[in-house]
Amino acid sequence: MRVSALFVLIVASAASAQSTSNGTNACLTQCSQQAAQNSTTDVKEKLAKCIKDASSLVGSAKCICNSDIAPPFESCLQQTCPNDKASFDTACSMTICPSRLTLVTVYMDTARVSILVSSAVAFPWKARSFLPPSDTDSRTPCPGLNVLANEGVLPRDGLNVTPDLIKQAIKDTYNFDANLTDFVASGAVLFVREDGTFDLHDLAKHGIIEHDASLVHDDADGAEFGSVITNQTKVQAVAALSSDGKVLSIHDFALARLAAEAQSPPLGDPIQGFADMEPSLVLNAFGRTVGDDVVLDLDAFKSVYGENRFPTGFVRKVQPVTFDDVQSVADRITAAKKEITAGKR
Ligand SMILES: *[C@@H]1O[C@H](CO)[C@@H](O)[C@H](O)[C@H]1NC(C)=O
Ligand SMILES: *[C@@H]1O[C@H](CO)[C@@H](O)[C@H](O)[C@H]1NC(C)=O
Ligand SMILES: *[C@@H]1O[C@H](CO)[C@@H](O)[C@H](O)[C@H]1NC(C)=O
Ligand SMILES: *[C@@H]1O[C@H](CO)[C@@H](O)[C@H](O)[C@H]1NC(C)=O
Repeated sequence: MRVSALFVLIVASAASAQSTSNGTNACLTQCSQQAAQNSTTDVKEKLAKCIKDASSLVGSAKCICNSDIAPPFESCLQQTCPNDKASFDTACSMTICPSRLTLVTVYMDTARVSILVSSAVAFPWKARSFLPPSDTDSRTPCPGLNVLANEGVLPRDGLNVTPDLIKQAIKDTYNFDANLTDFVASGAVLFVREDGTFDLHDLAKHGIIEHDASLVHDDADGAEFGSVITNQTKVQAVAALSSDGKVLSIHDFALARLAAEAQSPPLGDPIQGFADMEPSLVLNAFGRTVGDDVVLDLDAFKSVYGENRFPTGFVRKVQPVTFDDVQSVADRITAAKKEITAGKR
């Protein structure tokens, strides 16, 4: 992992860093390079080892915040871009405050839901059209991102994209507000190369964003990259959990998460939280409210998870989807899992 990319990640995670069009922040890039130049080999090696041993993004972030490389970095930020220094300090304080962990680590399998179907508007990109990926197209384990590439909202080859491009596509397509968009896209910053771009498949690197116990993918099972191939047997198994044969409810997704987790090693924090959040993102982008439940029609489930394409008649939500919307449905999925598990004992 390049140190400068991690710096950019931490600051970007604070959701306020001003990005340039190539998806990186020139000041952050410059300061991280300068800080690295000004630091001794010993300091850099210690940092590299700490990051290598860290089992999570939060762990990596802590390495940087606690490293002797941080003071020259901050001093450069203070001189060159004081607002980014404030963001960096905030992000570092988040790494030691568990309730804010999600904002630092961020990103996940994907995104979608809505609570406000009645106010949905027509999707602005009617002209876009679905094409399944070719063998050489680069894809993620995240259905919601793959949808954007397969529909031509993102470059179809999935190569050389930038975090800013991802953010714009998510905002325009799923109407996630700025906060949620930053949250969903911030993990991507980790994978950015020197030229400011990354390929969608980079996100499949196991154990960073990608994780085991996916609803529709096989476990990485020792491989460097998790599978981006949808396992159709799993798609059918999840669809079969529908309580009424028409939709997947919060309860049904809880069943699906439990079934997936029963087959894989424990996920651990904070990945477990993200794993419960992933169906919430889908529900918020593609689902609809029924009474006090939020549901995803089975047809939509099969389109999004099975084929990574827009459901028939897809419309984006009129009301921007917020981080709290997603967290609240995720909390209900987590609670339903606990209830189901308790009921079985
Ligand atoms: C880092 O080195 C540059 C020259 O490469 C120097 O101008 C700058 O003051 C140094 N910054 C710190 C914080 O040591
Ligand atoms: C963004 O998220 C943070 C943390 O959840 C919250 O404190 C802040 O109010 C949010 N900002 C907006 C504009 O929603
Ligand atoms: C990104 O673009 C800015 C100006 O647009 C440039 O100064 C900077 O070097 C670029 N960063 C990378 C990593 O290419
Ligand atoms: C797909 O999932 C099924 C059920 O979990 C499993 O038996 C199978 O090995 C998986 N992989 C493939 C390539 O079918």
